Amino acid sequence: MKFYQMSAKDRRQLLRSQGIKLTKVNENELKKLEQLSENVVGQISLPLGLVGKLVVNDRNYLVPMATEEPSVVAAANHGAKIFAQNGSVEAKSVRNGIYGQIVLRVKADFSLSQFEAKFPELLNLVNDEFASLVNHGGGVKEITARREADLLFLRVLVDPAEAMGANKVNTILEFLGKKITELPGIVEKLFAILTNCPSQLTAAKVELEPAMIGGHDVAKKIALLSKIGQADPDRGVTNNKGIMNGVDAVLLATGNDFRAVEAATAVFASSGGRYHSLSKWQLKDEKLVGELTLPLPLGTVGGSIDSRADIQQSFNILGSGITSSELANVTASIGLANNFAALLAISTEGIQAGHMKLQARNVVARLTASEEEKKAVLREMIATEKYSEQASKDILKELRRNN
Ligand code: MEV
Repeated sequence: MKFYQMSAKDRRQLLRSQGIKLTKVNENELKKLEQLSENVVGQISLPLGLVGKLVVNDRNYLVPMATEEPSVVAAANHGAKIFAQNGSVEAKSVRNGIYGQIVLRVKADFSLSQFEAKFPELLNLVNDEFASLVNHGGGVKEITARREADLLFLRVLVDPAEAMGANKVNTILEFLGKKITELPGIVEKLFAILTNCPSQLTAAKVELEPAMIGGHDVAKKIALLSKIGQADPDRGVTNNKGIMNGVDAVLLATGNDFRAVEAATAVFASSGGRYHSLSKWQLKDEKLVGELTLPLPLGTVGGSIDSRADIQQSFNILGSGITSSELANVTASIGLANNFAALLAISTEGIQAGHMKLQARNVVARLTASEEEKKAVLREMIATEKYSEQASKDILKELRRNN
């Protein structure tokens, strides 16, 4: 039997027989995981953290975030708290749809204008075929075409309603591709697939009183740091990494496709032909104004969202009935909060002080010691600002000697 045909349990047995150490996993859990992916042999787990109060468009949210990076949830909470003290994040999602591409080879006598005249008919045909998507408020919205030599490039805009829509769009594109191949002047379809180009744009904006973030000089420094990120890719990439720390954590917690968002975001950060920060912080009318726009093709239904209890738990936390637009608003606001917390730390005490304190927990977790001892070691590491593994061992030794 081939490896992919085996059950997860048998695969694990095979790996063990080869001397590979595996961690325990609940059998029922393993069966569920097998439905989600291929060649499943186990499970990895991530902590689910929470932002206690994010205010977006005057509504309070609890936001679930899944990440292993110790400072990310703390940074999001810090940023969100300061945002809430200043009022509310204003956010807006424009969910026009996501793009698909069909590329075909055409004959020399192919007429683009005659082909374009068929678009209304093609739109009706495809929307009749996918009537259930139309009934959910979505559907194929637009087809545009361009010809380059013997190739015809079609761009198809599909509104996936509340879903992210990748699978649906690919199904629609294959259907459309087949129908179009039957039209005069077409030689063959080369491919039909989702583009992942930036779409479903969400913008988040906050206005902060300098007095509430350490004063005018701090606000000025943040604005300068942001300006540097606009011009200098070295800073721009790290600025954007800080934003994606928060964004990806929400996407993971809500079962959304973070790879699609990362791919689209990388293109979006290069708009204008040069890589730049995704966010912008400026002093305007004596206020520090932060803005962030991201392509967020998110869903609240579809994919594995409906079948995973861990993801449903995240939606329970966010509040039942949350729409995909709202989820995108929350996600962009968290990205802005993480970005702000990083800029604030860099402009003042630097990030390492906070990071190392949080990192110390990982170091302490590796000690062979009681919970009480670990707590005492952590306290001492923070007090003495010694964060290495060796320091944790020395402190533990000293502690035991004294007791
Ligand atoms: C660390 O994960 C993210 C930061 O480097 C982001 C930034 O520098 O803006 C703190």
